[in-house]
Amino acid sequence: MTALLQISGLRKRFGARAVLQGLDLTVEAGETVGLLGPNGCGKSTTLNLVCGLLQADAGQVLIAGQPVSPRSAALVGYCPQDSALYRDLLPAENLDFFARLHGLSAARRKARVDELMQRFGLLPHAATRAGRLSSGWQQRLSLAVALVHAPRLLVLDEPSSAVDLQARQALWTLIDGLRAAGTTILLTTHQLAEAERLCSRVALLQGGRIAALGTPAQLCSRVPAQAVAQLQTADEAATLRRAAALGWAVRRYGGQLCCLLPLSATLREVVEALDGAGVTAVSLQPVTLEHAYLEALGAAA
Ligand SMILES: Nc1ncnc2c1ncn2[C@@H]1O[C@H](COP(=O)(O)OP(=O)(O)OP(=O)(O)O)[C@@H](O)[C@H]1O
Ligand SMILES: [Mg+2]
Repeated sequence: MTALLQISGLRKRFGARAVLQGLDLTVEAGETVGLLGPNGCGKSTTLNLVCGLLQADAGQVLIAGQPVSPRSAALVGYCPQDSALYRDLLPAENLDFFARLHGLSAARRKARVDELMQRFGLLPHAATRAGRLSSGWQQRLSLAVALVHAPRLLVLDEPSSAVDLQARQALWTLIDGLRAAGTTILLTTHQLAEAERLCSRVALLQGGRIAALGTPAQLCSRVPAQAVAQLQTADEAATLRRAAALGWAVRRYGGQLCCLLPLSATLREVVEALDGAGVTAVSLQPVTLEHAYLEALGAAA
């Protein structure tokens, strides 16, 4: 079976900066794949290449087996990092405008606009111009716009970056519904919890290539730990000596001292093992995608 999206050997440079240096990624129909990595690593560039908004220097992007072209554009819906909405148009007018761009007939446009206004809960905001909607509602409308031509592949660039917790959860519920209906999704996010919640697989981008790829559970299982102990200490040297003696690798995640525990342990066992080593507080956490990300991308100095 042909993958819905197949990226191979993708290269893109801007001036002297080689952003993508041979990126390979395959997304099967029905998957939700998250492309994660630090600011400037080339996530949006990759999405722009998939959507045919940029030209690659080398490599190939195939959508349902076809190279990116105006024909493949019908298969892809794109929700860019910066809103593409027309601020002065009403929600339904925005939907209608993008439906026209995709060449939908008048009857189909009307049906699709009505359906999306209803399904995305936009009807109470029908009289508010897009630029006056809250960030959360603008993001919902952007998602609806990306779906107006019923694409098979939905490309979302940081879909919930500027929205509050409740709006984010509402977006997640909408995305769940799309996944359940079989839409294939490629998204970027800086929120590891969002990736863990939404993505069937996660790709970590570094140095212009995919540095690690797998389900969130697979990526977590690559962290050499059963659990992570987060510590506060009044005597760091003593704590580090004890950790070394116990065979616990030490990390500083976001400046916070952490130990990777090679065996699962209770909080009481951890506290006892650290007794007399200057530790003033301990909390025990399961290994999360955040730890996997920091380990894989080498940000865990
Ligand atoms: N059109 C362009 N012209 C020149 N440089 C560009 C252009 N687009 C992107 N870049 C540069 O390419 C690099 C990758 O940018 P990109 O937007 O793909 O990163 P990103 O991973 O999406 O980052 P963020 O997490 O901040 O959104 C950055 O250094 C950026 O400045
Ligand atoms: Mg970006």
